[in-house]
Amino acid sequence: MYENIADHAVADRISNATPKPLWIMTSHRGEELTGSMVISALSLYHSNPVKVVVCVTKRDYTHDIVLESRVFALHVIREDQMDLATHFAYQSGRDVDKFAGLDYKIGHTGCPVLSDCVGYMEFEITGAVDTPTHTVVVAEVRNAEAFQPLEGMTYRSGANESWFRDNAPPRPPR
Ligand SMILES: Cc1cc2nc3c(=O)[nH]c(=O)nc-3n(C[C@H](O)[C@H](O)[C@H](O)COP(=O)(O)O)c2cc1C
Repeated sequence: MYENIADHAVADRISNATPKPLWIMTSHRGEELTGSMVISALSLYHSNPVKVVVCVTKRDYTHDIVLESRVFALHVIREDQMDLATHFAYQSGRDVDKFAGLDYKIGHTGCPVLSDCVGYMEFEITGAVDTPTHTVVVAEVRNAEAFQPLEGMTYRSGANESWFRDNAPPRPPR
């Protein structure tokens, strides 16, 4: 084991130097639907099928549901969808039904798929690594659909972490 000698401010600045995608993750346990916002998803480019790595926080409601069903959907959202982002990030499925009042359909894997977004991919988990605070899941794409033309979109087109950090209202106290 190595002592942690990292200067947190430097590590934070290096980490912030690259755009990080921000997704809304949804999943289900039978008819029970859940959803959360995640930024830790890392696409593994040039792989066929597309794979993704996501760190799912153990204390979140979504964690156990994703690990049980082994499927989830990741949605790309637009920068005009801050309300949707905070809706999923600032509340827990333990307290509210996040899908009440939202337009969605049930996708190929049974996950709820939000109608208003750039597009989504559904994934099946192929591996998971346990850590004290998170489960790191590796998953492969099973379905993908775009709701707006993808021509002209770049890797920075969807809403990303910096947009959220710079523009989100403060999180209400829990
Ligand atoms: C900017 C931001 C990024 C987040 N990224 C992650 C993440 O990568 N993984 C994760 O498990 N939770 C992440 N969260 C936390 C969840 O979105 C949040 O705790 C949510 O309320 C969980 O809902 P649930 O209890 O219904 O699952 C993030 C929250 C914010 C504000």
